[in-house]
Amino acid sequence: MASEVPPVYIGLKGIYVAKTALSYIDGERGRLIYRGYSIEDLAEHSSFEEVTYLLWFGKLPNRKELEEFKENLSREREIPDDVVDILRKLPKSSHPMDVLKTGVAALGPFDPDLPNIWGQHIHEKRTENLRIAIRILSKMPTIMAYFHRMREGKEIVRPRTDLSHAANFLYMMWGREPKEIEAKLMDVALILHADHGFNASTFACLVTASTLSDLYSAVVTGISTLKGPLHGGANEQALKMLMEIGSPERARDYVKAKLERKERIMGFGHRVYKAYDPRARILKKYAEMLAKETGQENLFNTALEVEKVMIELLGKKGIFPNVDFYSGQVYHMLGIPTDIFTPIFAISRTSGWIGHVFEYWEENVLIRPRALYVGPMEAKYIPLDERL
Ligand code: SDX
Repeated sequence: MASEVPPVYIGLKGIYVAKTALSYIDGERGRLIYRGYSIEDLAEHSSFEEVTYLLWFGKLPNRKELEEFKENLSREREIPDDVVDILRKLPKSSHPMDVLKTGVAALGPFDPDLPNIWGQHIHEKRTENLRIAIRILSKMPTIMAYFHRMREGKEIVRPRTDLSHAANFLYMMWGREPKEIEAKLMDVALILHADHGFNASTFACLVTASTLSDLYSAVVTGISTLKGPLHGGANEQALKMLMEIGSPERARDYVKAKLERKERIMGFGHRVYKAYDPRARILKKYAEMLAKETGQENLFNTALEVEKVMIELLGKKGIFPNVDFYSGQVYHMLGIPTDIFTPIFAISRTSGWIGHVFEYWEENVLIRPRALYVGPMEAKYIPLDERL
């Protein structure tokens, strides 16, 4: 009897490959929770530091725990001078995601804990891995801000320890302390992007971590994966599209022409959400507020029209705005350069990537799926001179 042909799930669509308690996405109802807390509550009341603590340690910290965690993070913001020199050597035209990937990879060899932890499970080297996790999370904003200042020909701005994670990033980017609303918006964006189940970049991190490689290697995998326009890179492309459309009146024809060419509208659709992405709903509110404050209503109204047309045409297929559709508008109106949008996503998602690695390492299993072989079962070797 011919052996059963096993089912093949291209792209692992709808396939569960592990259990997690970090976050849950209700794709039908458009809900997102981190360890039971709604993303709406966390965006309104929490901070990125508090959310990271929740993702890594499984509970919201009390005041003492939070203050200690924030101090451990802020103390690790500076990067070695040799890594600063490496950033200086990169072409100023480099894409910031490539710089972030290079910077994190360069941090590894300077980390005193790295040589004696790789190849070990989290519970054998928990303290060392936690120190490494804090260094990676704290240094990524510095890598990004330093490179941005270098490519603009400006002096780098050293990190401060008295500002929040979000505020310090903006301070190092701009050379001035952010206004309260600017820091709040950045903090909300970091909270919203912190975790999202087994998205492509998180899963990629786990493939690396499941071989008992190290956290630097896992995060470099995550950054490399997030860069793609089907994933984190969509926020940059979505804003470029809105700029190209230029006005609400042109939105309908633009979207219809793109769809007729079978092209994707960036910032829409999702593998899990078949409803409005709750993160997009929160960011949309801030985008509207910023548009009024910065006189960029045309950009926001253009987005509203694109959203209206897309839901009219593809809503019945479960295609709605995702987080990337409004995040780019908020960053743009904050004055963040477009090519820094996805790095901000990576700076935030490193919290979720590391949280998932810690969780998966608890009962680590090497991730190694199968591929159904469809090639010839035998072939006769022909010497080179006898080949046609
Ligand atoms: C993120 O996974 C996560 O959680 C990711 C993320 C996170 O927090 O980590 O939420 C962040 O990556 C959000 C997604 C950002 N990407 C984009 O906005 C890129 C545009 N989106 C699409 O490429 C698409 O929606 C995906 C890739 C996000 C998901 O696509 P799927 O699940 O693989 O579905 P599919 O590509 O098979 O599409 C199903 C149908 C197709 O039409 P048919 O061939 O059936 O006729 O829907 C169509 C697609 O053409 N479709 C779109 C569309 N998205 C899906 N058509 C036009 N524009 C789109 N954006």
